[in-house]
Amino acid sequence: MYVSDCLTLNEKGHLAIGGCDTVDIASAFGTPAYVYDENEIIANCRAFSKSVERCYGGNGMVLYASKAFCCKEICRICGREGLGLDVVSGGELFTALSAGFDPRRIYFHGNNKTHAELCQALENGVGRIVVDNIFELRHLSELAARYVKTAEILLRIKPGIDAHTHDFIKTGQIDSKFGFALETGEAMQAVKTALQLENISLAGVHCHIGSQIFDIDPFELAARVMLDFIAAAKAETGFEIRELNLGGGFGIQYLKSDRPTPFEDYMEKVSEVIKSYSGQLGVKTPFVLIEPGRAIVGAAGITLYTVGAVKEIPDVRTYVSVDGGMGDNPRYVLYQSRYEVVCANKAAEKRDFTATVAGKCCESGDLIQEWTHIQPVEPGDILAVLSTGAYNYSMASNYNRICRPPVIMVKDGQPRVVVKRETFEQLTQNDI
Ligand code: LLP
Repeated sequence: MYVSDCLTLNEKGHLAIGGCDTVDIASAFGTPAYVYDENEIIANCRAFSKSVERCYGGNGMVLYASKAFCCKEICRICGREGLGLDVVSGGELFTALSAGFDPRRIYFHGNNKTHAELCQALENGVGRIVVDNIFELRHLSELAARYVKTAEILLRIKPGIDAHTHDFIKTGQIDSKFGFALETGEAMQAVKTALQLENISLAGVHCHIGSQIFDIDPFELAARVMLDFIAAAKAETGFEIRELNLGGGFGIQYLKSDRPTPFEDYMEKVSEVIKSYSGQLGVKTPFVLIEPGRAIVGAAGITLYTVGAVKEIPDVRTYVSVDGGMGDNPRYVLYQSRYEVVCANKAAEKRDFTATVAGKCCESGDLIQEWTHIQPVEPGDILAVLSTGAYNYSMASNYNRICRPPVIMVKDGQPRVVVKRETFEQLTQNDI
């Protein structure tokens, strides 16, 4: 009925998440609030792990891309589920370590890791550092020598695939701030440098071709391009790269009309390519990693708001203003992302009212959704925006000095706070 299996209509005609009435959650914890169903997150973790296990045997691993939603509790959940973690900043790394996440299962990404971040990674013994550029490679070698450690690295490669155009252009992505280019020979040079440098151990290569991708073809092509590179590196240096990290990007359903490819199909097809093509190229089948972010948490989360002013502008449109906005969900403003919106306390009624859902920020563009179909609403109603589990909390800001909402985790019908609502005191705590 809804875009996510964890959402249902209960006997009161209210929207429920994980068996919990969202209207009760709103009155118990206030709005705006992010609400997640833990069982849905767990089911997604298990589905990915199972699929990797089935397609690669013991020769693969799932990393959760924590940029999609990072807090201690999600790190604990992913840790318990046996996933590794992709972090991209000192802050994400700190969060994971504070949650007791095993550092050996952490992969540290980023195109411009600071000196302090590289030190933090080395001091804490993160499993892999994904090196983005030659400056970082040399810097890391020097630092690792100072720490008397060997940094296990992957090299981030731009495979030259733009997954966002339908006939993906093989050279388009050379213009990207991430990684080493293949076409120019930069990537091969990086392999040679990594093999020469002290205190560096080259474990593998990484690529990430984009996000919210619905087709399998660009993923297959990326796998081929990366295997070609592994084979070419073997031919040139005699060294065989063991790990292939194919990044994330698996699309999810935001609207009921969205038709993302089931990731099992992706896993099946891409693993077939990897197994058969590596054989053809005469290289060992690499250890394969994938880094889903959105697909683990996106559909497991919703945002609850309270409706304030409803402003009908005759012959123009009706604005329904809520107590949140671009501060807690900047994705419509940034990408015109589509979402389903449901009036949680009138969920059984028809969605025959066309509205523009606006936030409370002092900015005309502060919209959550335009021309969306919802139930007829009035002030005090609870509005739920669905599939907001990925890149909403993690991209939230304090614009207009609005406090960021809490995160409520529901498990087996029981809600609990996993991130508290920000307070005015916290907003001003660093002000002198
Ligand atoms: N691995 C790497 C290296 C990445 O850069 C990303 C996402 C992922 C994994 C996870 O991708 P996912 O499975 O979540 O698609 N803010 C944008 C999304 C930016 C994604 C950045 N990198 C949004 O709100 O749609």
